[in-house]
Amino acid sequence: MADIKNQIDQIKNEIKNDLEKISSSKNIDQIKIKYLGKKGIVTKLMSNLKNFSTEEKRKFGPKLNQLKKEAEDQIKVIKEKLIKKETENKILKKQSFDVTLYKPQKIQGHKHPYSSFTEEIENIFISMGFYPSDGPEVESDFYNFTALNVPENHPARDMYDTFWLDKKNMLLRTHTSTIQIHAMKNKPLPIATFAIGKAYRHEAVDASHDIMFMQCEGMLIDKNITLSHLFAVAKTFLQKMFDKKDLDIRTRPGFFPFVEPGVEIDMRCPFCKNGCSVCKKTTWIEVFPGGLIHPNVLRSGGIDPEKYSGFAFGFGLTRLAMLKYGINDIRHFYNGKLKFLKQF
Ligand code: PHE
Repeated sequence: MADIKNQIDQIKNEIKNDLEKISSSKNIDQIKIKYLGKKGIVTKLMSNLKNFSTEEKRKFGPKLNQLKKEAEDQIKVIKEKLIKKETENKILKKQSFDVTLYKPQKIQGHKHPYSSFTEEIENIFISMGFYPSDGPEVESDFYNFTALNVPENHPARDMYDTFWLDKKNMLLRTHTSTIQIHAMKNKPLPIATFAIGKAYRHEAVDASHDIMFMQCEGMLIDKNITLSHLFAVAKTFLQKMFDKKDLDIRTRPGFFPFVEPGVEIDMRCPFCKNGCSVCKKTTWIEVFPGGLIHPNVLRSGGIDPEKYSGFAFGFGLTRLAMLKYGINDIRHFYNGKLKFLKQF
């Protein structure tokens, strides 16, 4: 009998010792299991009770119950205390934040070069008084061809490898010149606008061609607009883009059904004086086509060509970006390789 009493006292001590040692609320459950779990020390002792005599049961039953209750209470109290302390510590830690402490370096992202380049173009045109316009990528035959003086069966339609859609007369726009017509129909005169967007052509993909590419369209319509206005805008745009105040341009005749006369604009190579690999030793680089808007196109847009004239030009963003950044493969822009992107 004395043995059980000793055991109870001993367990009490052990619990006390264990609880004194504990420093984190996370470990308290282990102690609970050790004493009060299914196979715990106290639980076992209690289940032994059935082997005792009636007298022993009467004497030690309440004592064991008390032991169990005390253990439960003590564990509960200590657990609450520890949780409270831990919460306080957390708050304190936040309050005494050391600003001089070592800060692990964050990996910082940045805009995709294509996005920065697009923004640069936008900024240049906006600074010259042009406003941005937009139009759909899925177009009708009318906006992409007919209204731009390319009627059905006109051989110029062959210039564009068109993605025709299942729906009759619908296509993926082959150029952003469609936006010329949308702007003419929707904007009040005079119009000075530009549009950056996707265009699609059914081409074999290689280092300088993709089935989808970005184009920029520019257009100015007012009274007495001439080619010299186009040349001035093109020159200023290129000077700002390549950050060269004396960058010169030259023009050659070019053909597009929606302009008359049509021109090809070249710029002096911004990278050399006497010829290099970029300008193929010619010191000139072809940059973009343009011209005076054909009277038929003005008419399609609801504008009287007797009263108004205008110029338009259009270029692929990628070619210009490749020139500006010295990139030799168009696919670098789309494949998302960090090694390439991190250079910008
Ligand atoms: N839309 C023509 C193209 O895609 C470019 C262009 C635009 C030419 C405006 C002249 C005037 O190639």
